[in-house]
Formats: sequence, C-alpha cells, structure tokens
Amino acid sequence: MATELLPDGTSPEKSINPLFKWLNDRLDLVSIWQLAQKKEVPIHKHSIWYYMGGITLMFLIVQIITGILLMIYYVPDLNSAHASILKINTRIDFGWFVRSLHCWAANLMIFVVFLHLFSTYFMKAYRKPREITWLIGMGLLVLVMGFGFTGYLLPWDQVSLFATKIGLDITSKVPVLGDQLATVLRGGSIISQNTLSRFFAIHVIILPLLLFGLLGIHLLLIQLQGISTPKSIKVSEVKYEKFFPDFIFKDLLVWILALNVLFVLVTFLPWGLGEEADPFAPAPIGIKPEWYFLAMFQFLKLIPAYIGPIEGELFGITIIGLIVLILGLVPFWDTGASKKLSKLATYFGLIVLLSMIIFSIWGALS
Ligand code: HEM
Repeated sequence: MATELLPDGTSPEKSINPLFKWLNDRLDLVSIWQLAQKKEVPIHKHSIWYYMGGITLMFLIVQIITGILLMIYYVPDLNSAHASILKINTRIDFGWFVRSLHCWAANLMIFVVFLHLFSTYFMKAYRKPREITWLIGMGLLVLVMGFGFTGYLLPWDQVSLFATKIGLDITSKVPVLGDQLATVLRGGSIISQNTLSRFFAIHVIILPLLLFGLLGIHLLLIQLQGISTPKSIKVSEVKYEKFFPDFIFKDLLVWILALNVLFVLVTFLPWGLGEEADPFAPAPIGIKPEWYFLAMFQFLKLIPAYIGPIEGELFGITIIGLIVLILGLVPFWDTGASKKLSKLATYFGLIVLLSMIIFSIWGALS
C-alpha cells in the first residue's frame, strides 16, 4: 500500500521534523491523519443541511469565549446584577459588543439547532446506526434551551424576572416531579437571591459540563459512523468529497458567512437592557417568554382552565411531553422497515414543524 503524505509533504518514515516525530511517537498522528484522509462527505441536492451542525458548533465557541469575558464583570447578586450589566453595556471598553455577541449568538444558535434537528429528522439520519446520535441530540436540545432559560434571568430586568416567573409556574405543572423541580430551581416559593444564584450556577457550570460531555459523544459518534445519505437519494446521484481538506474548507467559509450575519446584527441592533427588576411591581402587560418558548406558551394559553376534571395546563404540558417523546423515540418506531411508518414520521415532523411556526407567530402577534 502506498504511504500517504503528511501535511508537510514528506512521508511519515522520512519526516525529519523532530517535533513531529516526537509527537507522532506518542500520539500516533499518522493514523489520525490517515483517518482524516479517508473520511468522505456525500454531495447531493440536500447537502446544504450538513453544514447546520457545524454552524451550531461555531456559535457555541462564540458563546464560550464571550461567556467567559462576561463573567469577569457580571455579579450574580440581586442588588448588583442589573448594575453590573449596565456597566458592561456602557462603561467597559467593548463591553456592549461582547454582551451583544453573547445574546445574539445564543438566539442564532438555538435557531440553527432547530434547523439541524429538523433537517436530520427529514433526512431520516436517526435510523440505524445513528439512534444514539439522535438521542444525544435530543439531550443537547434540552441543554441548549436550558441555557436560554437560565441566562435570560441573569440581567435581572423587569421582563426577564416576569418571564422567568411564568416559565417556573409552567415547570411546576409538569406531571409527577414538576412542583419539586420548580421549587429546587427557584430555591423556595418565590423568586429571590436563591433563584439568581442557582440560575447562575446552572448556566455557567452545570449546563456547560453536561453539554461538553454530550457533545463529545455526539461528535465522536459522527466520526465513527460518518455522515448518512438520505434513502430518497439514488446511489447514482451521490458523489463524495474528502472531509479534509474539501468539506472542512467549505465549512469554514460557511462559518465566516454566519459570523458576518452575527456581526451585522450585533453592530446595528446592539442588545438592550430593561429597567431593573422589582419583584413587588405588577407584571408588565403582555409579558412573553423568549421566541423559542413562544409556541409552547401560546399553545398552553389556548387551553381552557379545565378539560373535564383535568387542569388545562397539566393537560397541555402532557400533550407537549408526548410530542417530544414521540419525536425523541423516532429511531425506534421508524426504523426503515415499514414504508407506512416512514411516511407517518415525515407527516408527524411536518405537523410539529408547522405548528411550531404558526403558534410562534401567533404568540408574537397576540
Ligand atoms: C449543541 C448542539 C449540537 C451540535 C453542536 C451538533 C453538531 C453536529 C455536527 C457537527 C454534526 C455533523 C454534521 C451535520 O450533519 O450537521 C452533527 C450530526 C448529527 N446531529 Fe447534531 N449537533 C447538535 C444538536 C443536535 C440535535 C438537537 C439533534 C437532533 C435531535 C442532532 C442530531 C444529529 C444527527 C442525527 C446527526 C447525524 C447526521 C448524519 O449523519 O447525516 N444534533 N451534529
């Protein structure tokens, strides 16, 4: 077998770079290089969706860097939280820029996670052998939404306080453990310093640790299993390109494009800050959660207080839970063995996606 060349153009045996040789003897870099050379990515009419996971990753990197920078000045204390954000926004050099990057990238990341979820869903990438990749993905979705929910309270402004109140009230209605979960998150029966401290710890320690763990497995599985090709594409219609350098180069170009979108938003629409929260003030009129919780919120609002003997919110949350469960377990009921179930999965996904869009727009306008 012909030996493949190393990045510096020499063959591994003849490499004269002593640092490379030293590292290779310990880390077997040649094998990693050869693996990267073998990896291929399918090219077909739906290939554009393969970039969504990478864009999510890029936004995550932005979040980590800007999050660490924000932590230098942010104070998770009821009397100082709002003032510390105000200071970041107005008195720290480029503070407004870093904060806006963090807020905008968070929203864009959640948006792209949904694109990634639905594109892998409709391409049926969850089927054997990628069931675990899908399940881990569902876990990542919960974590990403958790980041949004806990981060929203941290600036301690009026809207974030009351939106969190609504979120925790809804959490308390979750069957079985909802009440306990809401009490633990709140640190008591009302939103207080306990809540802010807990949300801060969850946002900067607990969720990142869980995210790194799950994401590590997600990415490892993708390396082991490669990228899937949808069954709807004929074998003759698929070409392949090398992951390195072809796909990775295009991936980087797409990252630059996504970064441009982020920078335009940050520059022209810098993230604002509302009035400091006052837990004793009446709730601002028309208070709504962030857009990614809006579909759920609007759906729950439409349900009457009681459906027969069952409380309306409990009924609504049970329905949402069932939908998430059916979606999460899709690799186990749409295995590809039955055409009927395959169609059902597609229609189910379409109904969920359309309902999410309609309820979100409805929620935003009402
Ligand atoms: C922090 C969030 C996430 C990151 C950073 C991430 C990253 C990635 C990357 C880089 C890929 C390979 C390229 C691609 O197909 O896009 C991928 C593949 C995949 N992801 Fe994710 N992902 C995340 C969340 C999710 C979610 C929420 C789901 C669905 C529930 C999911 C399901 C999958 C599946 C099934 C594949 C395999 C695609 C294939 O082989 O065609 N991921 N992910």
